[in-house]
Amino acid sequence: MTGELLTNTRPEQDKGSLLFVVGISAVASLGGLLFGYDTSVISGAIGSLRTRFVLDGTMTGWAASCALAGCMIGVALAGPASDRLGRRKVLLGAAVFFLVSALGTALPRNITEFVIFRMLGGVGVGAASMVSPLYIAEVSPPQFRGRMVSLNQLAIVSGILLAYFVNYFIAGAGDEAWNVALGWRWMFGAEALPAVLLLVLLFFVPESPRWLVKEGRREQAGAILRRAAGSALAHSEMQRIEAALGQGKAKIAELLRPGMRTVLAIGIVLAVLQQVSGINVIMYYAPEIFKQVGSAADVAMLQTVAVGSVNMIFTFVAIWAVDRLGRRPLMILGATGMALAQAGIGISAFTGASPWLLVAFVLGFIACFASSMGPVVWVVLSEIFPTRIRGRAMGLATISLWGANLVVSQTFPMLNENPWLVKVFNHSFPFWVYGALCVVTVAFVMRLIPETRGKPLEEIEKLWHVEPQRDEYPAG
Ligand code: BGC
Repeated sequence: MTGELLTNTRPEQDKGSLLFVVGISAVASLGGLLFGYDTSVISGAIGSLRTRFVLDGTMTGWAASCALAGCMIGVALAGPASDRLGRRKVLLGAAVFFLVSALGTALPRNITEFVIFRMLGGVGVGAASMVSPLYIAEVSPPQFRGRMVSLNQLAIVSGILLAYFVNYFIAGAGDEAWNVALGWRWMFGAEALPAVLLLVLLFFVPESPRWLVKEGRREQAGAILRRAAGSALAHSEMQRIEAALGQGKAKIAELLRPGMRTVLAIGIVLAVLQQVSGINVIMYYAPEIFKQVGSAADVAMLQTVAVGSVNMIFTFVAIWAVDRLGRRPLMILGATGMALAQAGIGISAFTGASPWLLVAFVLGFIACFASSMGPVVWVVLSEIFPTRIRGRAMGLATISLWGANLVVSQTFPMLNENPWLVKVFNHSFPFWVYGALCVVTVAFVMRLIPETRGKPLEEIEKLWHVEPQRDEYPAG
């Protein structure tokens, strides 16, 4: 059975099926779950890897971060491939990379083999991080699109939490010698399960209707649109897609034309702003930050689980609000809260206040991020680019997001441990910087991000055909 079977419509299905949209979006969001699991599993395994392969500081850093290099390669390949081969094939490819990497990182004989397979997993993460939200946006009717794409963020944070728990249980299943010899292998190997699930389930989902229309496969696209949105809406969606695509095949140079240049720059800056808020400093270094202000090691682990849980719970707030209140209010409110929370973290670190005060501000920051910039940035990136160039444009924005992630997570220890900065700021300096950048985000969203709630994708792309004037943007 293939995706095509799912596209058959029964005549009585005039209203479209939310279940169908949720089902295929849930399959695509397994890509998000693997993204979350893969990026977090390393935190519980790195200590044992270091002992097992006798790694020095540099090699330990490389073993921990080499996946990010793979991510950038994955996004670079997935952008053009998703325009050329289709969204579904790229997701299938990502699933294969995840599976090969899970087995390869579970069974390496030396660190070189480990790094190679870990980078292959990174390729899968990079590809899935852009294609899952893009696919979901393209199959969802406008009125649910925000919620559906936010499902992907829910899957990312579930993957992160799953990795924390899997690591915790595996680490507790044996003594240190067992963990160094075998425990970490199970942590990586466990990823094979969701990878196989994604691989198998992808055979049951259809290709994106927008990509099919772009390829001239109108009939097939129409059946999927009818199944998702019902006959009436499918008809008008089809007309809009064809009108938007009718302006000719996209060329790479088109990305640099005035209107496109603007939307591309806006997408890239928004992607970078999500990362320079410092989110992954907290995701990757939380236990270290908590220990620095006096938490015991086991308490720090528990506090980290609290971070993962708050991250997940508050994603539901975004899912509830994104199609009701809109993207702009969520991002403006959320980034304001993030700026205040970073200031609170800065003050707690500077004054050496109780660790619990710092934990409270960290949790406040995560709650604000999870209900706004976390999901909504991916929603906006999946919808602001024109269909003809969506894959490539989203690829460029996503590469920038991963590049910014790399820079922020690599420079945090340097800023946090610089003797001069420590003397003057007492470990608070990086948080002031992230807080200030959250203020920049608020101003950027207020001035430059249009409200896209409830609009068909082809309406959104009309905003960019001419060099947009400020007053063309809806107030939101
Ligand atoms: C970000 C990731 C981050 C995650 C945390 C995502 O939206 O892109 O970099 O690790 O949220 O929940």
